[in-house]
Amino acid sequence: MLYKKTFWLSCLIGILTISSTYAQKATGFKKDKALLGSLSQQFKDGGAQYKLLAARLKADRFPKTYYAKTDSLETSGSGWWCSGFYPGTLFYLYRQTHDKALLAEANRILLPLEKEQYNKSTHDLGFMMYCSFGNALKVDPKPRYKQILLNSAKSLCTRFDPKVGCIKSWDSKKPEFLVIIDNMMNLELLFWATRVTGDSSFYKIAVTHANTTIKNHFRADYSSYHVIDYNPQTGAVQQKRTAQGYANESAWARGQAWGLYGYTVMYRHTRDKKYLVQANHIAQFILGHPNLPKDKIPYWDFNAPDIPRALRDASAGAVMASALLELCTYTDKAMAQRYFGSAQTMLKSLSAAPYKAALGSNGGFILQHSVGHIPQGTEVDVPLTYADYYFMEALERYKTL
Ligand code: GLY
Repeated sequence: MLYKKTFWLSCLIGILTISSTYAQKATGFKKDKALLGSLSQQFKDGGAQYKLLAARLKADRFPKTYYAKTDSLETSGSGWWCSGFYPGTLFYLYRQTHDKALLAEANRILLPLEKEQYNKSTHDLGFMMYCSFGNALKVDPKPRYKQILLNSAKSLCTRFDPKVGCIKSWDSKKPEFLVIIDNMMNLELLFWATRVTGDSSFYKIAVTHANTTIKNHFRADYSSYHVIDYNPQTGAVQQKRTAQGYANESAWARGQAWGLYGYTVMYRHTRDKKYLVQANHIAQFILGHPNLPKDKIPYWDFNAPDIPRALRDASAGAVMASALLELCTYTDKAMAQRYFGSAQTMLKSLSAAPYKAALGSNGGFILQHSVGHIPQGTEVDVPLTYADYYFMEALERYKTL
């Protein structure tokens, strides 16, 4: 009898503890009144900008960037790694504004993207297909989207090599197997595929890739290399280097953002604590870095030689903000506050000049001041589709948190 009473008492205490923790978590984030109050205007502005962008697009072309000096819009075909961001952003904007013209444009541009489901020459299928058709499934589902996403997941898996334990990022004629940290972003598509089919092989590939990446991509301070070159015969690491960063040993800002976002998604889908620990370590590296500016929009590389004159990368800030707004829901209160506060600062910065473009300018893109590939001299200090995509995603997450 006494045992029974004690048992029920413990249950009650447990329930009370859980519900008070939950209440703390659910109500513990103090949102900035000005930012919160501006959200519907932010989405309206985004919609107005994307209508401008849409008006300039030729059929079957996808926006890439815009050069203000020459008023020229650079576009791509559907095979470019960024083709999914334009429809994805339109779906976010439609969800927030209910403007049917944005939905019509999103649906229009999905058609020329469909064929990429069979593209086996890229690892970017998560970006291309999940940011587009994945969002379409949530916002305006059509029966054929599931098969398109499933075919995309199968195409992505053809690039997995069990010897290396990774999905290959870039094809190469040399004896090398190249994997970049960005590849962590493509794994969400595989979790989706396992969820809808019950076939665990997608899940296993995602987990194996993430584990190999933890092992080889990270330094002792939890910053990451951009490129790991594996020996395709043995799977051994041949070289650790950069492609888009300042130096092999530097911390390229967007790479840190992809890692943060990627391991947060890994935790969401597996609930394996090691991924949460990894995401937390990456967050500590980013937020504790002495070169992270006060407005929390990173320089394009944490070790850029000309800091504080170095260019900022708004896209890295947008990806980090979105990731932190998810990660803060998984951590203890002190960490959660830090992540939420930092994401909020990032969003406040991005929501205003100089990052947010004046209405009617910027070729219709929402944000300015992103950096694509400085070592190659391309897309330097320009608007980019993925900056807009993750900015809209982060604002939506901020609103619903
Ligand atoms: N390689 C993808 C990026 O620029 O982040």
